[in-house]
This record gives sequence, structure tokens and C-alpha cells, in this order.
Amino acid sequence: MRLNKAYWQQRYEARKTGWDMGMVSPPLAAYIDQLTEKNLRILLPGAGMGYEAVYLAEAGFKALTVLDIAPYPLESLKERLPASFAAENLVEADFFDFKEGPFDLVLEHTFFCALPPELRPEYVLTMNALLRPGGKLAGLLFDFPLTPQGPPFGGSKEEYEQLFTPYFHIRVLERATNSIPPRQGSELFFIFEKK
Ligand SMILES: C[S@@+](CC[C@H](N)C(=O)[O-])C[C@H]1O[C@@H](n2cnc3c(N)ncnc32)[C@H](O)[C@@H]1O
Repeated sequence: MRLNKAYWQQRYEARKTGWDMGMVSPPLAAYIDQLTEKNLRILLPGAGMGYEAVYLAEAGFKALTVLDIAPYPLESLKERLPASFAAENLVEADFFDFKEGPFDLVLEHTFFCALPPELRPEYVLTMNALLRPGGKLAGLLFDFPLTPQGPPFGGSKEEYEQLFTPYFHIRVLERATNSIPPRQGSELFFIFEKK
């Protein structure tokens, strides 16, 4: 099975979107709420329906880039973002081909776990290239065993430490305490800072 544009577009068209919480995840909302610099250049990769984008835009963040490989969620998001949001900042592209930046912050939410696990080293390199030195990659990673079935594909704290440490300082990587009930105990909140 190829997890390509057609696959994801089809999942949206068929409404097979079990990952979609219909809202910003509480740990991410809490992280966003303590950000004070509204001019941060922020990337939301694999943003799906983009609840974080709406949340950030409504909170006054101006320099947002929202990226997804599937057109369906981006079309939906266009209708829900404030009119002031520049359409060119909604980007339909493959994350691995995306060369813009540098960004101050990238927010991760169920994008890493949606990728075939063999792409994980490339994910780390691509994130590293997109961020400025000292820039942050923050969000949630699943904490359940990696199996051949997915998405979602699991992982562990130890695996994430090994993957990211060559390029990032691990500032926070701990069990999220404010996950929604179905995800309690299975999410790690993290902040990684580009070396
Ligand atoms: C599991 S969904 C998560 C969506 C959203 N972050 C959320 O939590 O609701 C994974 C998303 O990543 C997108 N995606 C998958 N592979 C991608 C790629 N290579 N480049 C960009 N987006 C991709 C899919 O279209 C989908 O919207």
C-alpha cells in the first residue's frame, strides 16, 4: 500500500478519518497558549483539517504556513480560516519536496505516525532543513509499539531520542497529561530544538 496523495485524498473523500479530533488537541492548545511572539514563522505539516491553523490565526499569529499532500482538507480549511489568511500559505505539496523556510516553529500532530516508518530518518532531515538554528519542532508523538500495520505507526521514547538527537536538543519528551480520554497514556508531548 502506498501512502501517497491518492490514498490520503481517498481517506478524506470516504470520511475514513478516525484521527480527526474535530478540535485542537489540548496539549497543543496549551503549548500555543503560552507563545507570546505573534510573528513566529510557523509550519503545520500534514495539517489535515487544520484545527491548529484556525486556532493560531484566531489568536493573532500571522506567519502561518499550512501544508498537506491532499487537496480535500485544504479546500475545507480555506472556508474556515479568517479572510485575512493569505491563500498562498495553504500549500498542497509533499512535505519531503517542500523547501521553503526557514521556520521558527513546526507543530507536529499525527503526521509523523501517518508516514511509512522507513521515512522517519528523512522526516528528521527535512525538519532540520526547514527550521532555523534554534528553531523548534513541537507537538505530540504516539507512545505505543511500532507494528507493520498502520497508519498510525507507533514508536517509543527511546526510538525518538535516537532518531532526533543527532540534529535536535531534546528539551521535552514526556507523557502528555492532558490528552483526550481515548489517547490518554499513549501520547508524548515534545519540544525539540534544532542544533
Ligand atoms: C493522520 S492525518 C493527520 C492530520 C492532522 N494533523 C490531524 O491531526 O488531524 C495525516 C495527514 O498527513 C497528510 N500527509 C501524508 N503524507 C504526507 C506528505 N508526504 N506530505 C504532506 N502531507 C502528508 C495526509 O494527507 C493527512 O492529512
